[in-house]
This record gives sequence, structure tokens and C-alpha cells, in this order.
Amino acid sequence: MIERMLSILLAIPIIFSVLAVCHGKDMASLPNIVILFADDVGYGDLEVYGHPTSSTPNLNRLAEGGLVFSQFYAGAPVCSPSRAALMTGRYPTRSGIYPGVLVPTSTGGLPHNETTIAEIVKTKGYSTSIIGKWHLGVGENGTYLPTNQGFDEYLGVPYSHDMCPCYNCFYPNDPCWNTCDSDYTYCPLFNNTEILEQPVNLTTLDATYVQRAKSVIQRNANAGTPFFLYYAFQHAHHPQFASKEFRNATARGTYGDSLAELDWCVGQVMEQLKMSGVLDNTLVLFTSDNGPSLRNENRGGNAGLLKCGKGTTYEGGQRVPAIAYWPELIAPGRTTALASNLDFLPTIANLVGADLPSVTLDGVDMAPILFEGKQGARDTFFYYFTEPNPKFGIYAVRYNQYKAHYYTQGQINSNEFNHDEDCRPSATRTLHDPPLLYDLDHDPSENYNLSSKEYGPILAKIQEIKTQFESTMVWGESQVQKPKSSAVEPCCKKDCIPFPDCCQCHQRSWSSLLKLSTYGNRDDGKFRWTLH
Ligand SMILES: *[C@@H]1O[C@H](CO)[C@@H](O)[C@H](O)[C@H]1NC(C)=O
Ligand SMILES: *[C@@H]1O[C@H](CO)[C@@H](O)[C@H](O)[C@H]1NC(C)=O
Ligand SMILES: *[C@@H]1O[C@H](CO)[C@@H](O)[C@H](O)[C@H]1NC(C)=O
Ligand SMILES: *[C@@H]1O[C@H](CO)[C@@H](O)[C@H](O)[C@H]1NC(C)=O
Ligand SMILES: *[C@@H]1O[C@H](CO)[C@@H](O)[C@H](O)[C@H]1NC(C)=O
Repeated sequence: MIERMLSILLAIPIIFSVLAVCHGKDMASLPNIVILFADDVGYGDLEVYGHPTSSTPNLNRLAEGGLVFSQFYAGAPVCSPSRAALMTGRYPTRSGIYPGVLVPTSTGGLPHNETTIAEIVKTKGYSTSIIGKWHLGVGENGTYLPTNQGFDEYLGVPYSHDMCPCYNCFYPNDPCWNTCDSDYTYCPLFNNTEILEQPVNLTTLDATYVQRAKSVIQRNANAGTPFFLYYAFQHAHHPQFASKEFRNATARGTYGDSLAELDWCVGQVMEQLKMSGVLDNTLVLFTSDNGPSLRNENRGGNAGLLKCGKGTTYEGGQRVPAIAYWPELIAPGRTTALASNLDFLPTIANLVGADLPSVTLDGVDMAPILFEGKQGARDTFFYYFTEPNPKFGIYAVRYNQYKAHYYTQGQINSNEFNHDEDCRPSATRTLHDPPLLYDLDHDPSENYNLSSKEYGPILAKIQEIKTQFESTMVWGESQVQKPKSSAVEPCCKKDCIPFPDCCQCHQRSWSSLLKLSTYGNRDDGKFRWTLH
């Protein structure tokens, strides 16, 4: 405790000096920003959040040296809208990333007039890179790809890797467990707006991503350029996959292997930050896009003590693991502060001294939580269902420790065979009047409804907050409902036939660039990047 207070006290002058420099002109001292964004990793999936058989030594290390959030929320219960929330600091109902998610034939995407974190830090001279799953659109001629949304460079599969035929998930050529969307063309691996590999080889994908992450860090550190690296894993979304090193690496089966590989990537990024001498000047944020996909049953993720999972507005759908790491500046420990991926944009903008976009923002600056050990400015969170609809609006509202459900609904990603029938898709939309009310500080599992006269004043207060918030909600035109067209599906060969089968390319030049030695030895609990 004393040690912790001391480190906070010691950190204060450093924060001021970093901030002073940030607001000044000394570009070289602007902090680097790394966001590590996991896919479908639930509240109960990491070792540090209690999973008994996951193997996440590098995330353990990050948690040990960083700030672990126990009440952190993804801005939406599924992929595309959650990513829109993170990138823009705005509920996806504003940007039009609803209902559900974008698919390879979607002609819509994140509107160009939305301001992304990448666009914000670019105004301060940052180099901006994205690796991995974008899932905010491809569109005609790749118009919605990240290189048109503020990123200097992109390497990745632009949507979920189950939105393509899937067959080889485990080294060397073992089949995937899940059935994928084989109506779409093969999964492309993009380098900026060009396709490098199609179908992407999942068993070498992480080596490729890690190699790019390392080169981004090293290159910018050498040049003294501040950088923003957004690394969005394909792991641990289904179908789970893993390279040779992680095949059968854990007691947790295919999900455990996928998560172990994700964890290895985290370690590689951290090690490179250290080797490049920029670890002390880098804010690292780790979180997940939504709760666990329970439809994969015992091969899926885990929401821990929370109710239901991905796709729902119960806690399991949106409360996710989150860790913030910055040696010296962020005191290691645990926080119960409310926070969300909606808060990344304002936090980063203020940190680098950039102007906030002049639009309605739903995020708040997390600086007091990160740097001062405070509870922060957020006291509310609004839950929109996977298929938001202006007719029904917000499904649930969190206000301090209380959560009121106006509507509840099960969802396919929480599985039709779930032991809890509220999670199943057969649990159709149900209006609650009065709303169901839970005290999440006492009852995080949402087991005991408090809705009664005694709580009338709290329900009235929540209703007031909800009405006020909904009066500010301007629903953007749905990008997901724009017409679908196979003409926009990424294909490495222009106008080839028979489409989409002909979309196959394997660039040897690229494969030879891939040093498989990148893997070296798996970090079996030993870390080269260490605390001070
Ligand atoms: C972007 O453009 C659309 C269409 O003109 C408009 O409705 C929306 O309000 C704009 N969004 C922002 C953030 O300016
Ligand atoms: C896409 O490219 C084609 C061919 O260059 C062009 O005719 C079309 O207008 C482009 N569409 C968009 C949305 O840029
Ligand atoms: C994927 O890469 C692995 C490792 O290099 C290789 O053994 C395997 O044959 C590749 N699979 C395909 C389908 O190209
Ligand atoms: C990726 O694209 C850039 C230019 O857009 C090019 O300079 C680079 O060599 C490409 N990388 C690979 C691995 O093809
Ligand atoms: C992994 O485990 C599966 C199931 O036990 C087994 O069939 C497979 O041969 C193992 N693969 C490797 C590479 O060890």
C-alpha cells in the first residue's frame, strides 16, 4: 500500500512533465499509444480474471505491472459496432454501425466524416498503423479500409475470419472446428489496399502480424516519431486457430491454444517496446471487443461470474477484461472505476494535446483513473442491443452501482442451449415495466431483482438520465443495411472467373519475407520485458 502510494506520488511530477511536453512542441517526447484489442475474449477468460486453465503469462505480466479494470465496458455487444465505438468515442448508433455487423459484401462502412483516433493523433504528427481485424468496412474499391480512415499503413484480415470458407486452422493443415460462411470468398490478407495472400494461412498469420508490429515499433523508435499502433487480434474468435508452437499448448483445448497465441503476441509487442527503448514512453491499453461467444459451447469463451455473453445487454455481453500499462505513470493495481472503450478517444486526444472532434462524444477522459487512482468522470453506461432500433432505444442503463433493464433479449451468440434461458435466442424481446433493477456492486451476476417501491427514487433518477441521453441521440443512417454486393468482395484477381473460387493468390515474395524464426522459443513463463 505504502509502496503503491509512493509510486503514485512519484508519478505525479512525471505526469506533469509528460503533459507539459505534450502540450509543448517537443514532438519526440509525445507518448506512443498501443491498443491491443482482443476478439470475443470474455470477462472470465484470462488467468488474471480467474480462468483456471488458460495460459496467459504475458497478460499476467501486463496486469502485474498495470492497472486492471473490473468494470470496463465494450461500447457494443458485437464486433463492428464495438470497434466503431472505440475508434470514434461515439455510440455506433450515431455513426450508423448497426444493426449487427458488416459482412464482406457490405457496401457501407465507417463514414468518412467520423473522426477516428488515428485521425486525431495524426494532427500531432503521429505515425499510425493498424494490424489485424478492422471490421469497419471494405466497400467499393476498398474505400472504407483503414488507410482511408487516418491510418498510414494496414496489415490484416479486414473482417472476422469466419466470414470466409475455413478449413485449415491448426498446424500444419488440420481442419477448423466451426463451419464458416463459405458463401463468401476466401479470407484476404491486406497490405494497405492490396491483397497479399488469399486465402490467408491462419497458421502463419500471427508470425506475420508480430513481425509487422515489431517493425512498426522499431522503425518509429529509430526515427524518433511518436506512433499509434492499433493491433486488433483475430484471436480468440471462432474458428479458433493456432500455429505450430501453440497447437495443443494448453489444457483448455482449441480456445486455450488460440488465447495462448494471442498472449504470445502481446509478449512480443511488449518485448519490442522494451528493446526499442520506448516502453517508458508508451501507453499500452489491452481490452476485448465484446463478451465471449457462448454458441461455441465448450470450445468458446467464458464470461466468468457474469450473466450471458456476446450479443446481449447482460453484463456478460459487454463487461470485458481491460488493462492499462505505463511504467512509472500508471500505478499497478486494480480499479473498480467505470470505464469503456468509448473513453479511449478523449483520453488519447487529451494526452497528446490534440483537439477533440466537434461532434457529440460519448466517451470521457480516463486520465484521473489512469494517473491519479480516482474513480473518474463516468457514472453512467448505456447498453444498446446487437440490433439497435430507434423504436426501442436503450435496453439498459447503468448508473453508479445500479443497472436497470428496460428490455431484455437473448441472442444466438449466447447460445440456444445456454443453461440460463434468458440468454437464449428463444428469449425474445421483453419489456420490463418497472425495469429490472440490480445492484452490480452487490450482485454482479444480475441474480436479484430489486425493483420495488423502495427503489422508486433510483428508478426515477435512472429514467431521467435515460430520457436526457436519448434526447441527444441522433441515429446515423445504417451502414449495415446498405445494399450488399458481391462486387465489393475482396478478390486478389480482378474480374476472374469462376468467382469467388478464383480469388486465390499466394505471393511467394511475401512468404519468403516471413522469417518463421520470429517464433523462437515460446515464452514459457519467462519474460524478457520486465518491471523496473
Ligand atoms: C456525416 O454525414 C452524414 C450524411 O451527410 C450526416 O448525416 C452525419 O451527421 C455526418 N456525421 C458527422 C459526424 O459529421
Ligand atoms: C471504383 O473504381 C472504378 C474503376 O476505377 C470506378 O469506376 C468507380 O467509380 C470507383 N468507385 C468508387 C466508389 O470509388
Ligand atoms: C500454411 O502454412 C504452414 C506453415 O508454413 C504450412 O505447413 C501449410 O502447408 C500452409 N497451408 C496452406 C493451406 O498453405
Ligand atoms: C506493403 O505495401 C507498401 C506500399 O503500399 C509496400 O511498400 C510494401 O513493400 C508492401 N509490403 C509487402 C510485404 O508487400
Ligand atoms: C493435438 O491434439 C489432438 C487431439 O488430442 C491430436 O489429434 C493431434 O494429433 C495433436 N496435434 C499435435 C500437433 O500435437
